[in-house]
Amino acid sequence: MAELGVRLAGLELRNPFLLASGIWGESGVSLGGAWSAGAGGVITKSIGSVPRAGYPNPTIETYDRWGMLNAMGLPNPGIDEYPTEIAAARAAGAPVIGSIFGATPEEFAELARRMAATGVLALELNLSCPHAEGYGTEVGGTPEEVEAIVRAVSRAVRLPVLAKITPNSADPAGLAEAAERGGAAAVSAINTVRALAIDVRLRRPVLAHGLGGLSGSAIKPVGLACVWQIYERTRLPIVGVGGISRAEDALEYLMAGATALEVGTAIAFDGISVFGRLADGLARLLDELGIARAADAVGAAHPGGAAARPSR
Ligand SMILES: Cc1cc2nc3c(=O)[nH]c(=O)nc-3n(C[C@H](O)[C@H](O)[C@H](O)COP(=O)(O)O)c2cc1C
Repeated sequence: MAELGVRLAGLELRNPFLLASGIWGESGVSLGGAWSAGAGGVITKSIGSVPRAGYPNPTIETYDRWGMLNAMGLPNPGIDEYPTEIAAARAAGAPVIGSIFGATPEEFAELARRMAATGVLALELNLSCPHAEGYGTEVGGTPEEVEAIVRAVSRAVRLPVLAKITPNSADPAGLAEAAERGGAAAVSAINTVRALAIDVRLRRPVLAHGLGGLSGSAIKPVGLACVWQIYERTRLPIVGVGGISRAEDALEYLMAGATALEVGTAIAFDGISVFGRLADGLARLLDELGIARAADAVGAAHPGGAAARPSR
């Protein structure tokens, strides 16, 4: 059977499939549940300095298995309340990555210190929520902002820092280059794609907030293109995310250059057992293709394979 274990920025993962931030990961019980279901690790809901209620309903619209539109507005209990949830997830045995969001480099750095104190193994910075005013793409939309936030956090904590970037930029790979300059240990790509649905009878957007973010199978080609370009333009390990629901999707991301993967919307359509199915399916697919280890597939679709990556 092919070896699924991967190493990401110093973390040993039993398989490449991480629970993506924001889906299923609010409580310690649900984080632990994703680990029990076979995930290689779990990423928390993005946590801010203070509790946030998020936007009024409707916040989610689902399409027929190919996508999901959401504008949740980053609801979360705030960093004061959250350590107990992380303790529960850790007690269940899960490798936990803490996701945080803030409005300034200083706020990110302070949150990072507090999150690091909970015992998480790494931090993921949400620089990429497309619909939360004052946060997300509004602070992570330019290379200068990404670099400043990543640098502030990297100086504040000793943990590996994953910068999660937006596809809603003219040059997402440029944001990854900025994260690399700022000292990131890895980059996660992508967050949701800015999108809209309209109710023609009500003559207004379906979601209460109006604009939202698209996730699920529909965005897989967008995520793959971002990972591809980031692989060619940086030396950072990449966490591929966006529309992974089958083993083939996962292998596409690995071959585009991702070292690890995140799974979100597929859980809404297929249930949390999708993690076990993805791991089994990827092992079978690698066997079928004569690839001994998941790590051997990383970057394999690039001309010249992994050896062609820029060195600097
Ligand atoms: C309902 C919902 C909530 C999300 N919340 C967060 C969040 O809190 N922080 C974050 O970084 N990404 C968040 N995301 C983005 C996902 O982590 C992921 O990047 C995106 O959905 C693409 O992956 P997928 O197609 O597998 O869902 C959210 C996505 C959805 C659908």
